[in-house]
Amino acid sequence: MEPHRILLAISGGIAAYKAPELVRTLKRDGHEVRCMLTPEAERFVSPLSLQAVSGESVRRDLFDPGEEGEIDHIGLADWADLVLVAPATANLLAKMAHGLANDLVSAVLLATRAPILVAPAMNVNMWSHPATQANLETLRARGVATIGPEAGELACGWEGLGRMSDPAVVAEAAAGLLVPSSLEGLRVLVTAGGTAEPIDAVRSLTNRSSGKMGFAIAAEAARRGARVTLVAGVTSLPTPHGVDRVDVRSALEMREAVLAAFEDSAIVVKAAAVADFRPVDASDRKIKKEQLAEGERMTLELVQNPDILQEISARKGDRTIVGFAAESHDVVAAAQRKLARKGCDLIVANDISRADAGFEVDENAVLFVWPSGEVEELPLLPKTGVAAQLFDRIEKLRERR
Ligand code: C5P
Repeated sequence: MEPHRILLAISGGIAAYKAPELVRTLKRDGHEVRCMLTPEAERFVSPLSLQAVSGESVRRDLFDPGEEGEIDHIGLADWADLVLVAPATANLLAKMAHGLANDLVSAVLLATRAPILVAPAMNVNMWSHPATQANLETLRARGVATIGPEAGELACGWEGLGRMSDPAVVAEAAAGLLVPSSLEGLRVLVTAGGTAEPIDAVRSLTNRSSGKMGFAIAAEAARRGARVTLVAGVTSLPTPHGVDRVDVRSALEMREAVLAAFEDSAIVVKAAAVADFRPVDASDRKIKKEQLAEGERMTLELVQNPDILQEISARKGDRTIVGFAAESHDVVAAAQRKLARKGCDLIVANDISRADAGFEVDENAVLFVWPSGEVEELPLLPKTGVAAQLFDRIEKLRERR
């Protein structure tokens, strides 16, 4: 594998004793490694050992003039191809999730645009605490990768999840993230989440799409070096690292945002669950219950929304356009019909009748349905994995042209 520049951030847990071995493993793989420590980490591992194994001076202080003169924290953040946080304590994960930057390590983690991999290590109860899990969920949704922790005997005397993964395992996970910048120089447009079609001032018609699939796709495109515009419908997900986000609510707003970004985009992936219909007249006031007599029915008149995917596919040029299809039965046939009708390059189809995949969950089982009639069935994968597979296919498709 190509050598890369890996910045190792070490926070203050007992597992910090594994850091020098991790540095050696990464160096053996040919990478350039620099280390930075939190003040607490220095109590567990000596900067001198890290300096000896990395062959580089160790960064410890945000305001040390000597170190700042050599390389400032932004310089360090920009230098890295990957920032590896090992061990990652509960405290550092919390700081990352909330964007704190009150020491060198947290400031660099906030400033970097490089991918980040964290290897958590902590007491089993700290790990399973909802606060830690919520922080991790936030970080993962932003595209931060995680490895471990593993189960076993913990330094604190407890048994359970909390051990930092072995340096060899962490190094392997790091290698997996050092993907080539294969989409460098390209603009990628991704839509995600459901739309909400207003009924009145407070109510809307919407659907169960969480946006997770589209957000994973945007994160993957950014990881591969693309300039990404993410048009996000109704979702509470945080913006993935390095992605420009445009928030919309209705299908009509989504259409505007997509058309605005379309001209400059080489690749468009429409993962949003766009409502097919909207109420004809959205009242700008709240419709009151008293407007109806008791037992009286109310009719909501709906009109079709424009099909954005179909509209942009008709003006495709040499762009690559991918659509999604959520189907509850006859998945392949329905996706093939959709592909023909919409005229895009690929349909990613998922069977929403499965409970373990699709809406709201972190995993997805999809089929790639091609215009040639070929159908590829992927196994159940994390949505990040589906995103990686999708871009592998898109890149191949573009190479063949
Ligand atoms: O027709 P259906 O909604 O099942 O098609 C799904 C695909 O079409 C998705 O890629 C979705 O983002 C896109 N779509 C669209 N505009 C619509 C409806 C769906 O772009 N009005």
